[in-house]
Amino acid sequence: MKPLRKLISALVLGSSLGLAMPSLAEAPFGNKDDLELATSLWALMEYKGLAGDNAVMTRPYKGMPPHGMILELIETPVKLHGQSGPLIVKRNYGGDGISVDDVINDPARYLQAVTIMLKREAGYDADNGDWFYVKYDARGNVMKNPKGIALAGRVAKGMPTGCIACHQAAEGSDFVFNHDRYK
Ligand code: HEC
Repeated sequence: MKPLRKLISALVLGSSLGLAMPSLAEAPFGNKDDLELATSLWALMEYKGLAGDNAVMTRPYKGMPPHGMILELIETPVKLHGQSGPLIVKRNYGGDGISVDDVINDPARYLQAVTIMLKREAGYDADNGDWFYVKYDARGNVMKNPKGIALAGRVAKGMPTGCIACHQAAEGSDFVFNHDRYK
């Protein structure tokens, strides 16, 4: 499907089903609403050239675990389902001994995952900066943890490891390592 058609169908689907807050009994991540939002968001990212075959390329930099040997970081405000907020897109490249030049010359070959943080409405996850996390594979499929739970939403909230547990350590208490703009 063309990015624009995918975006429209994702938006129609999202708005017809609504994006209700999950009930307290539901898991903090990997539920139906999380997957719907993640799917709509990937379509929007393709449409905006942030992901997919025609994505804008930035100058990659050397990264560190867990995100990958070489990384790209792009940020832009987005509007989705009536909410607007900053979206941080991190492209994670890996492979034996790869260099920044390898990635620049053939990004598709080394792209292993796209991890994002989307700032949601106040109260979505007040203890954790109201961030919605997703880990996609290179094609935009939401990846799963070893227990088979999709990595979308308040990922691993309350658990000792995972997106939130690690990002909690970011300076400035904004859950973002690279800067403190969203304090
Ligand atoms: C073990 C620690 C750790 C875990 C787990 C982790 N991250 Fe990160 N993340 C980092 C570090 C360190 C950086 C900044 C360094 C860099 O550029 O990679 C970062 C950067 C990011 C960024 C760029 C914004 C920022 O904070 O600078 C995004 C987006 C991101 N991670 C998403 C995720 C998602 C989604 C998950 C879960 C699927 C996740 N991260 C899990 C450590 C972690």
